[in-house]
Amino acid sequence: MLEDDLAKLKESALAALDAAATPAELEAIRVQTLGKKGDLTQILRGLGHMDEGQRAAFGASANAFKESFANRLAERSDALKQAELNQKLEREWVDITLPGRPRPHGTIHPVTRAQNEIIAIFTAMGFPPASGPEVESDWHNFEALNIPPDHPAREMHDTFYLPPALDGRKRLLRTHTSPVQIRVMEGKQPPLRAIAPGKVFRCDSDLTHTPMFHQVEGFMVDEGVHFGQLKGLLATFLVRFFERELPVRFRPSFFPFTEPSAEVDMGCLFCEGQGCRVCKRTGWLEVLGCGLIHPNVLTNVGIDRERYSGFAFGMGVERLAMLKYGINDIRALFDNDTRFLTRHA
Ligand code: PHE
Repeated sequence: MLEDDLAKLKESALAALDAAATPAELEAIRVQTLGKKGDLTQILRGLGHMDEGQRAAFGASANAFKESFANRLAERSDALKQAELNQKLEREWVDITLPGRPRPHGTIHPVTRAQNEIIAIFTAMGFPPASGPEVESDWHNFEALNIPPDHPAREMHDTFYLPPALDGRKRLLRTHTSPVQIRVMEGKQPPLRAIAPGKVFRCDSDLTHTPMFHQVEGFMVDEGVHFGQLKGLLATFLVRFFERELPVRFRPSFFPFTEPSAEVDMGCLFCEGQGCRVCKRTGWLEVLGCGLIHPNVLTNVGIDRERYSGFAFGMGVERLAMLKYGINDIRALFDNDTRFLTRHA
């Protein structure tokens, strides 16, 4: 009879092991089968009623059962662990042959980058950054700079005029950064110097002009300031900005607020003076306007024109950026096409 119970236990316990789905279930079956209060203990209670011979034989069958139970338990436990591992490998599978996918990230716009480089070069040479408003008075943008109301130079500027301010003063969008010179000099005395980057506006739009663009202005006023210093400063700037030694020439020009005035040309970066499309076959690229500050300008801001002299220069940031980074259409700078912006990051 006990032999029958043992045989039934063996069958059901092994079947339970086979059906278990987790290590926790296996453990529960082990306790239920072999534990102190388990099924086997229950059966072995009947041993007391057996004679010596039966008992030895039954004991052997019980041990055999224990052994086969332990073997099946170990097998099933290994199998469940392996299944768990396989599932994990499947879940956490990574194709290491895929190319990397860096997260898209913001970049500095080429105009901002060129502007930052220009500022860094001049601040290192002792010109502190200054700024002024984009909506300017006629006085700062024109009159103080020796451009009276009827002056023909006003026509060159294609000015955006705004309705007058409440106090009746004329207002406009500044057409250049030169008014910042006036703002830095007003109410102060030399030595003075500054670099002034910023947006400027002209009613002009074609292949090479946008109605908004950027300039960087620079100037210095002190006793004994002369053209040779200006020339050395700008030649050094161009070498540092373009990271190349190129010939530089100063060509006589005209600005109402400088006298003498010059335009600065640099040997063409693309053909080294041979003549190409970018330099219109001249071998030279025009990169800057400059000159010695007109004495009338110093008088307009209350600086003694007999004692002091100064120089000033101005450059277009888009133009310098296009030359440095090899961009041939100015409009690409303002289209906000991310393919262009990423290429020039
Ligand atoms: N303001 C001039 C322009 O916009 C550039 C310039 C600045 C020239 C300072 C001479 C001195 O064209």
